[in-house]
Amino acid sequence: MRRLAVLTSGGDAPGMNAAIRAVVEEGLHHEVDIIGVQHGFKGLVEGDYLPLGINHVSQSIRRGGTLLYSARFPEFRELDMQKKAVDQMTQAGIEGLIVIGGDGSFQGALALTKLGFPAVGIPATIDNDIPGTEYTIGFDSAMSAATTAIDNISDTAASHNRTFVIEVMGRNAGDIAIWAGVATGADAILIPEEEFFMGDIVRRVRSSRSHGKDHGIIVLAEGVMGVEEFVKEYAKEAPEQDVRGVNLSHIQRGGSPTGRDRVFATLMGAKAVDLILHGQSGIYLGISSEELAVFDIVETLEKNEHKVRDDLFELNQALTDRY
Ligand code: ADP
Ligand code: F6P
Repeated sequence: MRRLAVLTSGGDAPGMNAAIRAVVEEGLHHEVDIIGVQHGFKGLVEGDYLPLGINHVSQSIRRGGTLLYSARFPEFRELDMQKKAVDQMTQAGIEGLIVIGGDGSFQGALALTKLGFPAVGIPATIDNDIPGTEYTIGFDSAMSAATTAIDNISDTAASHNRTFVIEVMGRNAGDIAIWAGVATGADAILIPEEEFFMGDIVRRVRSSRSHGKDHGIIVLAEGVMGVEEFVKEYAKEAPEQDVRGVNLSHIQRGGSPTGRDRVFATLMGAKAVDLILHGQSGIYLGISSEELAVFDIVETLEKNEHKVRDDLFELNQALTDRY
């Protein structure tokens, strides 16, 4: 029987389990053994294998996190480690690897391809920051979790007529901030891709209040600055406001994946198996105009940058720029 392996790497993301499940189901469909590698590239080097059956993935489509565990393992940049991983897989009769993770993990997949070992990537990170694809698995769930949390904060903010600054994740990308900010009608959204002026942020919240809104909501992407520091600076410029800061932190990364993340994960998991069985390698899957698309790892990651949805950011700017 042919044999493929699958691993999850980097920050976990809701929907990773749905992708693993699709890999296992598609493997069974093609009579291919699927070996789960636990703890990302670390497990790949150590041969930490778990042969996967339906029993492992049953009900996993609706579970957050990753049943294969994830790890950050910087040592995998070293050629020795990569060769060890290839040896382990070759000895175990594995003929291809599916890597579910972010762009860092794709570099690991590429390194294996360069050593002649076939590897295909599935983009999964809540940050949505991978060039080429419009969506990454986990982003929709994280953005929805942030939206629900901001809604909850808005209830208490309104009851006390307070201004809340809410820090969301995203590493160097502003995607979660933009989408959750638009989804909650935030007075201001701050992202690392756009410069901001404190006076302008204060003006937007004040104008909201003067038009009758009973509280203020500022959504701050972690890539801009930490919420504590921001609140200190903001409070100096807006002494009339009762300001509080909240960091949503890892709350955004857990929980049941949204339907959208489950569907994309299922599409990509099944396709990854088909592509690798047809001899494709050094590529990753993604979504372009709602359709499944295939990207070359080297070409796309080297020549493209991730772009945030400027149109949504500008929409929010326009909506909160009152007379
Ligand atoms: P993400 O995949 O979410 O971007 P990281 O950047 O932390 O997360 O990368 C995850 C893992 O991928 C790293 O811990 C390491 O094992 C592997 N990796 C990252 N960059 C490289 C690289 N240049 N070469 C080989 N492996 C890499
Ligand atoms: O890449 C996902 C992510 O959650 C980022 O948004 C965040 O900057 C980072 O991982 C946090 O990493 P850790 O969980 O290792 O602190």
